[in-house]
Amino acid sequence: MSRKKITVVGAGNVGATTAQRLIEKEIGDVVLVDIVQDMPQGKALDILESGPIYDYDSRIIGTNGYEETKNSDIAVITSGIPRKPGMSRDDLLKVNAGIVKSVIENIVKTSPNTILIVVSNPLDAMTYVAHKVSRFPKHRIIGMAGVLDAARFSAFIAMELNVSVENVNAFVLGGHGDTMVPSTRYTTVAGVPVEELIPKARLEAIVKRTRDGGAEIVNLLKTGSAFYAPSAAVMEMVEAILKDKKKILPCAALCEGEYGINGLFVGVPVKLGAKGIEQIFEIKLNAEESAALKRSADAVKTLCEQVDKLL
Ligand code: NAI
Ligand code: 2OP
Repeated sequence: MSRKKITVVGAGNVGATTAQRLIEKEIGDVVLVDIVQDMPQGKALDILESGPIYDYDSRIIGTNGYEETKNSDIAVITSGIPRKPGMSRDDLLKVNAGIVKSVIENIVKTSPNTILIVVSNPLDAMTYVAHKVSRFPKHRIIGMAGVLDAARFSAFIAMELNVSVENVNAFVLGGHGDTMVPSTRYTTVAGVPVEELIPKARLEAIVKRTRDGGAEIVNLLKTGSAFYAPSAAVMEMVEAILKDKKKILPCAALCEGEYGINGLFVGVPVKLGAKGIEQIFEIKLNAEESAALKRSADAVKTLCEQVDKLL
């Protein structure tokens, strides 16, 4: 079986770290693309030269064009500007919509059958841009956010209870923004509902920290946003698809009636396998959760209306 080919567009913090993670796990060969002259070539060569120490044979090349990305199995889109302190993800909309549009136009030409994983922010709106521009079937357009948000939620719960992160199964719904919906009702620790293990007030504080997780890192870094956990999240999604794992993960998917949402990419539990999104799972929500998800979808809708005016 020949190796899978993964294109990563944007060789900045998220893109380069994603490439490193994919190569180190030998998930496939990587083509790293950026507009900055020589930079993706330099990072790719540096990663390649770590192979003899880490014992991986996956190949990576860097480029400023799209010729080398031809017929990629997956294209991860991380190109765009990140947040600075005081900026919201939504402040990025205008600039990143233009960048994502031009990148997708190139990818569509060179890899018409690829599966797109969008990372650029504001995530749900940029995934919508990818959908508008590519016209790919919905199972081949996926936004990364829920895996990251759930990882943050899990990390905070594991710290609170002083247990292994492997015991925590966190559940997050909704858009990647201030209205995301971490669900305490469906989050478990070794199969036990977290609501039985952590007092309500503490749990509320953990939910708030999860919602503000991106801003917490931005405020500490001062020059950019998170990239270690985001790249780990992308790696998990790429692996689930290329190994056809049928893994259930929270991802931004085009909802067409599910959860009462229509025509928007919102974070929902999906099955990721060889075809991309193979199923959206509709979980029973209570009135409070439904209202929170609706608020989140409404916020995503407002951003998509701005996208419609731009594109
Ligand atoms: P960064 O600034 O380190 O890297 C972005 C890269 O994109 C730069 O190297 C830049 O030269 C490149 N770029 C810009 N225009 C391009 C184009 N037309 N074609 C190819 N490359 C282009 O930023 P970072 O930290 O890697 O973040 C990237 C994006 O991902 C940001 O929008 C950020 O907000 C988002 N993000 C989203 C997350 C999520 O959960 N969905 C998590 C973390 C970041
Ligand atoms: C995050 O949540 C910046 O959206 C990115 O860290």
